[in-house]
Amino acid sequence: MQFIRTLGLLLLLGVGAASAQPVSQHFYDKARGPTPILESAKPPVLGNAINDDVRRTRNYAMQPPIIPHRVDGYQVDKNFNKCLDCHARSKAEIYQAVPVSITHYMTRDGDMLAQVSTRRYFCMQCHVSQEPVRPLVNNTFMDVDALMLQSARNSSPGNGKPQKKN
Ligand code: HEC
Ligand code: HEC
Repeated sequence: MQFIRTLGLLLLLGVGAASAQPVSQHFYDKARGPTPILESAKPPVLGNAINDDVRRTRNYAMQPPIIPHRVDGYQVDKNFNKCLDCHARSKAEIYQAVPVSITHYMTRDGDMLAQVSTRRYFCMQCHVSQEPVRPLVNNTFMDVDALMLQSARNSSPGNGKPQKKN
């Protein structure tokens, strides 16, 4: 009995704590606009995904490359994987697609399998096609090449800028 009463009290306290946080009246989010969190925002109309077949530079070594072609309507389920229809090692020559890399055949323990590992089966967990839209949030990301160039410029003598003292 004592236990149930304590439990009830804890639950009450929990509810109290949750409702103590007011939902902001002036909510604004780049993706949702001013639609409050508890309501569904009207989704934007789907555009045409980029389909120019130009492979993009990766921002860092282990970035999953983005998909430069459309993928709508491609079946990927337990019966069939449309992506592997072109990207499997044996099909790459016919379709001139990039074969999936060796990491896609490895289990999480590092063992090599003959087939694509189940953890790499659902390609679009990691690879995405692109929509030709402006980014919702700007960012100032620089890749390592740009950073190295910048630091070389800053440290080379005679570039007109004061030298950094370490
Ligand atoms: C009809 C064949 C075909 C199918 C199906 C296909 N691809 Fe491709 N994919 C290509 C070809 C060819 C390229 C090389 C660039 C180009 O021509 O678009 C490519 C490029 C890519 C790249 C870029 C690789 C890189 O290194 O830049 C990724 C990632 C990719 N595809 C993922 C997928 C995924 C995920 C699917 C399934 C949803 C898929 N592809 C289905 C043919 C295909
Ligand atoms: C868990 C995340 C993940 C999944 C799932 C995944 N990939 Fe990848 N993929 C990567 C990463 C990370 C890279 C880049 C580094 C590497 O090669 O492992 C990559 C690289 C690639 C490349 C470029 C290979 C090269 O040599 O340049 C292709 C093509 C590709 N993936 C296709 C696919 C296809 C097709 C599937 C589904 C069968 C798939 N990937 C599933 C993460 C993933």
